[in-house]
Amino acid sequence: MKTAIYPGSFDPVTYGHIDIIKRGANLFDKLIVAVLLNPSKKPLFSVEERVELLKAVTYDIPNVEIDYFDGLLVDYAKKVNANAIIKGLRMVSDFEYEFQMALINKKLNPSLETIFLMTSAKYGYLSSSVVKEIAQFGGCLSEFVPDIVAQKLKEKFLDN
Ligand code: PNS
Repeated sequence: MKTAIYPGSFDPVTYGHIDIIKRGANLFDKLIVAVLLNPSKKPLFSVEERVELLKAVTYDIPNVEIDYFDGLLVDYAKKVNANAIIKGLRMVSDFEYEFQMALINKKLNPSLETIFLMTSAKYGYLSSSVVKEIAQFGGCLSEFVPDIVAQKLKEKFLDN
């Protein structure tokens, strides 16, 4: 069975991520969407909230699993028997960092491939950071995130 991991912060998941999830799930028997527990970042949503939102927006894709991990991605890949890492690329500006990560991960585990999917043109500008900024100022989110995510974002900024 061929398994891929789609790692990220997903703080929160956007339509851009969902596009990559659907396309990645078509290429592999199983796609594990894995939220990184990164103590050095200050996320808006807890890992539990991010996992819950990812589960809600992917419930209709049978070969997608949602999980979280800490430490190195290559170690997590070994643990779940993954063959590949899926990453989405938006702009040239993503490339340098992603290229470095792909080379490092290849060095750490030569049998683990990184596969890049070019974002669909309509999501090229989209990021979780931009979505949070729009939410903070009460802007309309309907084109960027599913309703359940928009609702959670509103609650977050009402609470703060
Ligand atoms: O959504 P993001 O924040 O761009 O995702 C970044 C992520 C989670 C893909 C990246 O930070 C990662 O893979 N971190 C795990 C640690 C690791 O394996 N680093 C590379 C080797 S030093």
